[in-house]
Amino acid sequence: MDVKQLEEIRDHLVSIAHKAGDMITAAHPSTGSSGSKKNSVDLVTETDQAVEKMISTALAEKYPDYSFMGEETYKPGDVLTDAPTFVVDPIDGTTNFVHSFPYACISLGFAVGRVPTVGVVYNPFTRTLYSGIKGHGAFLNETIPLPLNQQPEPLKSLSDCLVCVEYGADRSGNDYAVKTETFTKLCTTKEKGGAMVHSIRSLGSAALNLCGVASGHLDVYWEAGCWAWDVCAGWCILNEAGGIMVDANPGNWEPKIEGRRYLAVRQGAGQKELAEEFWSYVQGKFDVGA
Ligand code: IPD
Repeated sequence: MDVKQLEEIRDHLVSIAHKAGDMITAAHPSTGSSGSKKNSVDLVTETDQAVEKMISTALAEKYPDYSFMGEETYKPGDVLTDAPTFVVDPIDGTTNFVHSFPYACISLGFAVGRVPTVGVVYNPFTRTLYSGIKGHGAFLNETIPLPLNQQPEPLKSLSDCLVCVEYGADRSGNDYAVKTETFTKLCTTKEKGGAMVHSIRSLGSAALNLCGVASGHLDVYWEAGCWAWDVCAGWCILNEAGGIMVDANPGNWEPKIEGRRYLAVRQGAGQKELAEEFWSYVQGKFDVGA
């Protein structure tokens, strides 16, 4: 696919993101207006469903030959293939949306050969738009190149980092223990065997977290359990901003979009060493995605 075609796709995704943003900001949900999927903290609202319908209709009209994978219409067993595919989360950060915490977005990814190739992520509450095309850079609000600091500081040690993590919806079992024990290790003093990171953040939107790493205001983002539609768009933006994505479990430098385990590191000298340092603090191994 040539760059003109990809730019046309990006422009279409940007206009859809704005339409979706108007639907989301007009919705005024309440905690009582949501339903749940897997358990009481895995939320979904009528707005998630209506926005996905609008997006899939708009994409099918213009690109009838491309596949579509969306959070609200995904069925167990659906797989991402090598075909050009829109990978979409109508509201990433549904819990934030329900609580009117203004950190939620529309995440519109386009994968070709299962590689994130176009990404558009739009937070309609702050009117912040991130976009990227593989090989052609990533931008904030279409004109400001990412990362925001074009001469980013070297990544010398995890102890200098602001690290983003998420608790996710699974609140027991092996993977929950890996997360919470690792969170403790990351924050603990060096004397007690920890990484003594500057701090950790848990903000509630995988796509915006990836854009935070792409921008450079987060150094690292580590998560297991989220899905292809949470990461596809942000991953393209991250790579185009010079960031890297590796596996949340130690040792795998080439995670898959649908692998459900991710460690993102911002641009800067020493990225790979920082990923290895992070892995050395991971307590155990995630089962998800295995
Ligand atoms: C969720 C968010 C959250 C992540 C969860 C995702 P949703 O997406 O990205 O940050 O921790 O794993 O499911 O449900 O709000 O679209």
